[in-house]
Amino acid sequence: MSNKILRKKALIPGQTSMLVIHAPQIAKKAKPGNFVILRIHDKGERVPLTIADTDLDAGTITIVYLVVGKSSALLETLKEGDTILDVCGPLGKPTHIEKCGTVICVGGGTGIAAMHHIAKGHHRAGNHVVAIVGARSKDLLLFCDELGGFCPELLIATDDGSTGHKGFVTEVLRDRLEKDKDVAEVVAIGPVPMMEAVSKVTKPFGVRTVVSLNSIMVDGVGMCGACRCNVGGETRFACVDGPEFDGHKVDFNELRMRLAQYKKQEGESMDLFRS
Ligand code: FES
Repeated sequence: MSNKILRKKALIPGQTSMLVIHAPQIAKKAKPGNFVILRIHDKGERVPLTIADTDLDAGTITIVYLVVGKSSALLETLKEGDTILDVCGPLGKPTHIEKCGTVICVGGGTGIAAMHHIAKGHHRAGNHVVAIVGARSKDLLLFCDELGGFCPELLIATDDGSTGHKGFVTEVLRDRLEKDKDVAEVVAIGPVPMMEAVSKVTKPFGVRTVVSLNSIMVDGVGMCGACRCNVGGETRFACVDGPEFDGHKVDFNELRMRLAQYKKQEGESMDLFRS
């Protein structure tokens, strides 16, 4: 049956989980960069989540979510064998992937999962993929085994130095860009401050930089306007024009303000859910 959860895995217990969902029609069409919208019950909020992987033979898609608000907490209550009411997709414009040489894919937090699908796409296109992943500590890193399976270079940064470079992904990135002037593209997915910092690092090197603004989406189909963002002085909708944009053109100040807009309501909703 479609939308059935075939596998659930706690990647970071109580914080981040992975679901493998039976969705053969979506698996057949989904490309790296696409996302799906989930609805857990008929009055439920629409939850946009980037596809972390697909398996055509099994007819499955993989999603990864951070338990951060009411809807993701509700999603977390589902178990293997349960069915998600709606899984709609694939949505959004897929990542532009072509054979171009060396591509550096940077991921932070749950963004590593979405970055994994894009890195795989670049690998399949014949590019040399350098994966740079970062987290606060070793236990919070995601998809390292999977990325290590096909990326010839996997570079890690942790805030506490428990593995890899002690510090930020941006330091590893700058170092890698200084060593190799022939990098065709950098893709960054993760927290907004990370994507902004990556875009600042790549700018002087003149390397095309793609960031994903998936975290500001709500309805995901261009109706609500919540995902409005300013890219190169133009208003764009992350869900239908993106979610990926040129990191050197995104107005990150405006993006930060928009992301914080519903913090109060989100907190109240979560408190109600817990009570
Ligand atoms: Fe609602 Fe894009 S998420 S318009």
